[in-house]
Amino acid sequence: MAEPRSGIRGTTGVLAILGHPVGHSRSPQIHNAAFAAQGLDLVYVAHDVPPALLPPAVAGLRALGVRGANITVPHKQAVIPLLDDVDDLARRVGAVNTIVNRDSRLWGTNTDVSGFLGAVEHAWGRSPSGARCLVLGAGGAGRAVVAALVGAGADRVYLYNRTPERALDLCRAAAGWGAVPCRTVSLEEAVQLGPEVELIVNATSVGLGEGVKETPIPVDMVTRRHLVMDLVYGAEPTSLVAAARKRGAIGLDGREMLVRQAAAAYELWTGRKAPIDVMRDQVMRG
Ligand code: ATR
Repeated sequence: MAEPRSGIRGTTGVLAILGHPVGHSRSPQIHNAAFAAQGLDLVYVAHDVPPALLPPAVAGLRALGVRGANITVPHKQAVIPLLDDVDDLARRVGAVNTIVNRDSRLWGTNTDVSGFLGAVEHAWGRSPSGARCLVLGAGGAGRAVVAALVGAGADRVYLYNRTPERALDLCRAAAGWGAVPCRTVSLEEAVQLGPEVELIVNATSVGLGEGVKETPIPVDMVTRRHLVMDLVYGAEPTSLVAAARKRGAIGLDGREMLVRQAAAAYELWTGRKAPIDVMRDQVMRG
């Protein structure tokens, strides 16, 4: 197993993650193990940046020639106006999670979208193209999931959110992203849609935290023909994922998506194919 390297030299290139808090992040382990596995002279470090200090921190990335960065909670939206360029995908999602320093110009994108698609394909053996999907949650994570499903050409997206106006706003935005129909539903309608949909995605924060027994939908709507993907993750499967597996469905927590978004960022920074098994191993260790 590849261990993070300690041979930092004068030539070592720096990658960083900015978040608040950031101490829990697995990204330094994931990326440093991958750099070591490929013998790259790079190091990845975490910086806890309070919101008021985000502008000077981003300017600092430029000034210090940091090669690239990940941006995490709570800065994914706030970082956008601080960058030189942001791609269309990140603009749609309204969030940047990856920055590449291109000749001192900071370019932002969102690899959560391809991370989500990669995780679905890994579990399912096919893309969600043509799939009927139920998405729970219309926050930042929900936006990334809907953008991914529209981009992948899902058959249709049903969207439930506790606050219905937010779901309506997201479906309206999605109508401008492609031809995939997006319709808001109540929780009762979502439950009734069980037999119709194939992919169920929890993009709410329900289930976050160790030992949380709550699930965002009644689990008895899940059957063996569903792929249930929970963006929430921890050392243990969430109640939703555990219940889905018990009912014969494929239950996938957010760890594979974490691996895939990291791999996509790594490829942008290094121009190399990411050593995905090494990266996954860092995440799955718990
Ligand atoms: P993120 O960027 O992680 O998506 P967010 O923008 O704060 O975070 O969104 C959190 C999501 O979880 C929202 O869809 C939120 O629903 P509301 O828009 O109604 O707030 C959802 N959520 C959080 N707690 C919830 C709960 N107890 N029950 C149902 N939905 C919940």
